[in-house]
Order: sequence, then structure tokens, then C-alpha cells
Amino acid sequence: MHRVRHIREIRAQVEDWKRLNLKIGFVPTMGNLHGGHLTLIDQARQHCDRLVASIFVNPLQFGENEDFDSYPRSIEADCKELMEHDCNLVFLPEYDSLYPRGLDDITVVDVAPINQDFEGAFRPGHLQGVATIVLKLFHLVQPDLAVFGKKDYQQWRMIEKMVRDLNLAIDVMGVETVRDSAGLALSSRNQYLTPEERAAAGEIYRQLSVIAGAVRDGNGEFATLCERARADLEDGGFVVDYVDICHRETLQAATASDPLVILIAAQLGATRLIDNMEI
Ligand code: PAJ
Repeated sequence: MHRVRHIREIRAQVEDWKRLNLKIGFVPTMGNLHGGHLTLIDQARQHCDRLVASIFVNPLQFGENEDFDSYPRSIEADCKELMEHDCNLVFLPEYDSLYPRGLDDITVVDVAPINQDFEGAFRPGHLQGVATIVLKLFHLVQPDLAVFGKKDYQQWRMIEKMVRDLNLAIDVMGVETVRDSAGLALSSRNQYLTPEERAAAGEIYRQLSVIAGAVRDGNGEFATLCERARADLEDGGFVVDYVDICHRETLQAATASDPLVILIAAQLGATRLIDNMEI
């Protein structure tokens, strides 16, 4: 597996592969890889000739009071995992090569209106930061296929829309959320949870399942279902940002006959968790 840090190197490698007509798959990450990331790698592997992963903790998508400095970093262990999962190249760009003039004066990609509610409302600038870095990485890696986790549902749908709206020749694939035995979605941030919080965190999945079950059984009272879940989560010690049922593709308001997704974000102690379930 090649480890590439510089833009000129990744461009040269991609050019070689393109010349040979090889299909390039790409999985962008912020590292600290777990079973969720590795499932994306395995899925991408099945659909391409050459597989690229990137590891870059992107400062542009972190708010001022967020965990950019403390975000877990484990490059050596990550590279070992990627190699074992048959990745051909890991791109490890440095801050200066992606943001040579800093963050204050750069072009930012605004994929509206899908970036406005939910994470967009609670983490201002976050989704613009994600869209910007992902578009930059797409230009460098020039993948035929890019794979994202449905765990970050709004992020995945936003990237799909960006690719469509900007006519990028990339297939975007969404992969089901990987969970632990209690239903907690795997996340690099789960390691911030205390043992007690970790035991409590499975409640989010339980509430998603309760709402999904009720809607499937014909309950169309979305607001009541979401309020009840919010109250239960708050009783369980969560501070809830949102519980909502919306249209699965646009994330706009929906009715029972639409394709639906339930979105939840909540804080447990110092950790913010997000999760979702398609109905
Ligand atoms: P990161 O949080 O490292 O996640 C990288 C990819 O792994 C994302 O597509 C995410 O949805 C997916 N993923 C994370 N946990 C998952 C789980 N439990 N099951 C399935 N997939 C999971 O998301 C980012 O990085 C960044 O925003 C990035 C897209 C790299 C841009 O900086």
C-alpha cells in the first residue's frame, strides 16, 4: 500500500491509473478507523480496480468550541488496517497543502438547502466544511466511485446532491450503519463515553426502532412520536438537539406516503451522538 502525502504524488498516481483505464474507488475518512470505516473499505473494494482511502482531520468542518484538537488520531494503526483490507493507497495530506492560505479566505461549497436543518442548524458551517473538503479530495483522487456511511445521513445525502448538481462523474454509494451489540452506531467519538454513558447510549437505537415500528404500523402522528422519543431520551439523561421524521432524499418535511428517515442527535455528557433509521 502506498502512503502519499503530497498533491503532486497523488495526481501522478491517479494519472497512471487513468491511463490504464482502471476504476478508482475512494473512501474519505478522518482516521481512527473502526468497523464502520472498514465496512466502507470492503464495500468499495468490491466495485473498483484501485482503492484509495484518505485520512485528514479537516479543520474547516469543526466549530470553534468543538473537538478538533482532541479528535482521536491513530495513523499507524489505521494504515495497518487499511493494508489488511486491501487498500492500494492511503492519502495523508498535510494541512498546508490543502489550505495553504488558511481557512479565512477560501472558496466554500454550499449545498443548499439540504445543509440547512439538523446538523446545519446545530453545527453552523460544518456541512459547508465537509462539502468543501470532499470536493477538493474528489478533484485530487478523481474517483469513479466514492463510498460514504449512512451513519452520517445528512452528509451522505448532501454529497449525493453536490455530485448531481455539479455534474461530477462519480457514483456515490451509501453503506448501512455498523452498530455494536446494543445497537450503538460505531463512531470514533464513542471513546469519549464513560462506561455508564456507553451503557445508556443504546437508548438512541431503541427510540429509533420504536418510532420506525409505530410508523410502519400506520401511525402518522409524526410530531407526537418524535416528542415522546425526545421525552424518553431526556429522562435517560440525554440533552436532545433534534428528533425528526423527514423525506429520505431531500430531508424536508414529509408525509406517511413518502420514503422516510428518522434523524436523531443528542448529547450524553460531553459526547454528541447522531443516528438515524430509514423506514
Ligand atoms: P469520518 O467520521 O471519519 O467518517 C468517514 C466515513 O465513515 C463517513 O462516510 C461516515 O459516514 C462513515 N462511518 C462512520 N461511522 C460509521 C458506521 N458506524 N457505520 C457505517 N459508516 C460509518 O465523515 C467524515 O469522517 C468526514 O466528514 C469526511 C467525509 C471524511 C470529510 O472530512
